[in-house]
Amino acid sequence: MSKPQTLLALNWKMNKTPSQAVAWARELLPSLPASSAVLAIMAPAIDLQGLSQTLQGSAVTIGAQDVSAHESGAYTGEISAAMLLDVGAKYAVVGHSERREYHAESSQVVAGKARAAKQAGLIPIICVGEGLEVRERGEHVAYTLDMLRESLAGLTIASADQIVIAYEPVWAIGTGKTATAADAEELAAAIRSALSGLLGEVGAGVQVLYGGSVKGSNIAEICGQPNVNGALVGGAALEVRSVLEMVNALV
Ligand code: PGA
Repeated sequence: MSKPQTLLALNWKMNKTPSQAVAWARELLPSLPASSAVLAIMAPAIDLQGLSQTLQGSAVTIGAQDVSAHESGAYTGEISAAMLLDVGAKYAVVGHSERREYHAESSQVVAGKARAAKQAGLIPIICVGEGLEVRERGEHVAYTLDMLRESLAGLTIASADQIVIAYEPVWAIGTGKTATAADAEELAAAIRSALSGLLGEVGAGVQVLYGGSVKGSNIAEICGQPNVNGALVGGAALEVRSVLEMVNALV
């Protein structure tokens, strides 16, 4: 099977106001080289409309950092997949470790969000990964695959491009501790074989990303691994300069 296109997904987290987001996109576009990688910005929901207008006609796509599991109705504070689609989002991150930790999102909740996103036509970027204690016990593969199975409960896909999986070891997020390329490949390969078991033949073609302290100096090696199809990037996603460094490293 040929390798899917590399996806560079920028996770801005709770950074950039709508006007800062637009200014950022205006700064990025003229410097963006033609690249084999696809660039997607996971922005705060309130930034999406402005970003979508600014990025119109460019190859840069956008997504949200979360989505409601519900279609519509009395869910104060939540944002539905249909609302995100309406402002031009293509993706929604679900199950990021910060949401699992600070908002007590179980894999069951994450699965509901992934199903709602996919149902509406968004591509859920489903995050899984182990904490340091699990890694130190050597149980990271089994732990992450269990989390994957639970986070995909009830989900079916007709083609590989309907979902994306991001392997993000929690101990490598925002810590400067990057998993080695071999660590990333170990889990990406395990996830890929689990996906074919869970989702049938199309599962094996799903894009699997790595996330955790990715930057210009390590992205090429990580994304060059046979089963790694891109990166989900936090800290290095905030400055235009460091995003260009990563894009150039992937050309
Ligand atoms: P980081 O964050 O690149 O700052 O480690 C990655 C993420 O949380 O998705």
